[in-house]
Amino acid sequence: MRLGLRLQLLLALGALLVVAFVPLYFAVASIAEASLASARRGAARDLGRAVAGHVLSSAERGDVSGLLEAQLSEGGVIAIAIYDSAGSRASEAGDTDTLPARVTAGREVSQVVETDAGPALLVIVPRAGRSCAITITLHAASGRAALVRLVGLYTGVVALALLVFAYLAMTRLVVRPVEALSNAAGRVASGGRSLEIPEVGAAELRRLAASLREMTERLLADEEALRGKVRELETTTHELASAQETLIRSERLASVGRLAAGMAHEIGNPLAALLGLEELLMTGDLPADERRDVLVRMKRETERIHRVLRDLLAFSRTRTAETAEQGRADIAAVLAEVLALLGPQKEMRDIEIESDVPNDICAVSIPPERLQQVLLNLLLNAADEVPRPGGKIGVVARHDDETVVIEVDDNGPGIAKSARDKLFEPFFTTKEVGKGTGLGLAVCRGVIEAAGGTIAAGESPSGGARFSIRLPRA
Ligand SMILES: Nc1ncnc2c1ncn2[C@@H]1O[C@H](COP(=O)(O)OP(=O)(O)OP(=O)(O)O)[C@@H](O)[C@H]1O
Ligand SMILES: [Mg+2]
Repeated sequence: MRLGLRLQLLLALGALLVVAFVPLYFAVASIAEASLASARRGAARDLGRAVAGHVLSSAERGDVSGLLEAQLSEGGVIAIAIYDSAGSRASEAGDTDTLPARVTAGREVSQVVETDAGPALLVIVPRAGRSCAITITLHAASGRAALVRLVGLYTGVVALALLVFAYLAMTRLVVRPVEALSNAAGRVASGGRSLEIPEVGAAELRRLAASLREMTERLLADEEALRGKVRELETTTHELASAQETLIRSERLASVGRLAAGMAHEIGNPLAALLGLEELLMTGDLPADERRDVLVRMKRETERIHRVLRDLLAFSRTRTAETAEQGRADIAAVLAEVLALLGPQKEMRDIEIESDVPNDICAVSIPPERLQQVLLNLLLNAADEVPRPGGKIGVVARHDDETVVIEVDDNGPGIAKSARDKLFEPFFTTKEVGKGTGLGLAVCRGVIEAAGGTIAAGESPSGGARFSIRLPRA
């Protein structure tokens, strides 16, 4: 978890003050303690001198031991003794263990000694050949504790005051302006676009606020520009969609027009011929062999109309089929049948047909007679285009994922550029009148799509046409 700026500041300031004030506290406490001890020693020495003077001068007059006893006091003089001129102890009172057994005559002594009750000052005062030794307690503990408390209290209060002052100053100078900036940036980030960014605090923070405002302004401008672009894009998309719709509608109309024109042409021509031939028959005076010839021609024209209508029906039936046609075709067997059908026909003369259908190729999901119809159409189309002699047609089948691909290649001139888009439309043909109706590929596509497959035209490696059929595996 990340701590807030205020708390971090408080902790840093606290640590700083602890580092600064704890040694200060110990230094001040030890100095004060030392000076207190020396003052206490001075006072004890003065007291000792006074008592010694009093005792030595009074001792000559009366009861020495009573006098000495009178000097003892709780927390003050703990032992007192008088020494003769030889330095030996003459009389004594109190805890005499704290007193020396002998003293050097004529030498004043003042030294700290350790007693059972704590540190004490031993004062030896010589006077007129004799000496008086006194031990006075220094009461180290009592005054010391109070002093330490005082110094502690003082440094604690000063440190606290400094902490509060520094914290308030830092909050005012840094934390509040940073918080204000952070809030403003947060508002911008969460979608607010107001430019209310406060310019408070130090120069650096003011500069930061100015940069933030500039950034927001630029953001607003960019956003507006982007919105404009989106609007433009929407309009363009809309226009594009309506243009596409118009295009589709006109394309559909054109297809219908082509379909109608094709039908009129394909059926109209033989009908006109039939009408003419009927006229001829109706004149009634034709010789028998001519009558027969006219009837044969009439039969041919009727058959043509029949064929066109049959193909058209096949095309429309496949178009309207709602469910895929059921069936299972063995590609090799169907191809063999197609080749057997085409073999004797004159269209296939001088054409080399190569087929590559592996034995392990899967059967495809289409009725066999439908596949036969498609392959027949494709091979007849190819036969119409390949050169003679030297015409070559190839049929290849292979697996591709879950489908089987059948390709029919030829070495003809390939599909004319202008024909590419309309190839599969009914009645589209480049062949001369009477040779093609333009229904072959339209029927092929209908049949293949009804079986759930696809058919596409492309270019063969020899530059001719390639028709690729993709059918689901059976
Ligand atoms: N293998 C091919 N190479 C080049 N062009 C082709 C090939 N197959 C078809 N085409 C072009 O596609 C057109 C349409 O072919 P489609 O089979 O639909 O009609 P058609 O062959 O002209 O007449 P029919 O109804 O008698 O089949 C052809 O007229 C031809 O221009
Ligand atoms: Mg054809």
